[in-house]
Amino acid sequence: MKKIIIAIDGFSSCGKSTMAKDLAKEIGYIYIDSGAMYRAVTLYCLEHHLFNPDGSVKEDGLRRQMDDIHISFRLNPETQRPMTFLNGNNVEEQIRTLEVSSHVSPVATLGFVRQAMVGQQQAMGKEKGIVMDGRDIGTAVFPEAELKIFVTASAEIRAQRRYDELKAKGQEVSFDEILKNVKERDHIDQTREISPLRKADDAILLDNSHLTIAEQKEWLKEQFNKAVHE
Ligand code: DC
Repeated sequence: MKKIIIAIDGFSSCGKSTMAKDLAKEIGYIYIDSGAMYRAVTLYCLEHHLFNPDGSVKEDGLRRQMDDIHISFRLNPETQRPMTFLNGNNVEEQIRTLEVSSHVSPVATLGFVRQAMVGQQQAMGKEKGIVMDGRDIGTAVFPEAELKIFVTASAEIRAQRRYDELKAKGQEVSFDEILKNVKERDHIDQTREISPLRKADDAILLDNSHLTIAEQKEWLKEQFNKAVHE
């Protein structure tokens, strides 16, 4: 069977990564969470004091240090889930905190950061057989991807999902704060100058507000089967 590239884009916390991960596992493809890469750069910035007090990024400092930021993924042998590594350290947990979530947007708007990440992402997709999720995968990273999905769900439903997720991990969070963060990120993601979040013309739209994980998994598998047999 021919190997293809599957690009899954959409709003934050809409369950893209769950469906992308599950599909990749089932069909034996590599899964790459491109958002984790922007989150890892953000964690690096937090650890190296590269944020100004107003939340903006110390751009010159980050630009000078870009070559010192090495991001990679390894499978957790127990769960078979990918873990994100920053300069050799497993940062999978740290990059999911609200602190990173609320600092990531200004990092992801920087042209030199995007250029570096997109270059790495394209290299990862050279051999195809990859599922990548993010915001610009179908538009900028792999405009030629054979299967493109654009996922959406209401802001309230997405905030509730993130709230449940963080709560389950034992993090003390407020629903209103998360909803505010979700809406802010939507706005920044859609209005930024470079590679704003938008549906590629040839992407298939999926609103999963009222779908279960099992239902959306089934739906995605169907789209995959169609794409490989085309
Ligand atoms: O999917 P996520 O919430 O983990 O993504 C984190 C941030 O990274 C999000 O605010 C948007 C940004 N991002 C991006 O700009 N381009 C991507 N391909 C993936 C994520």
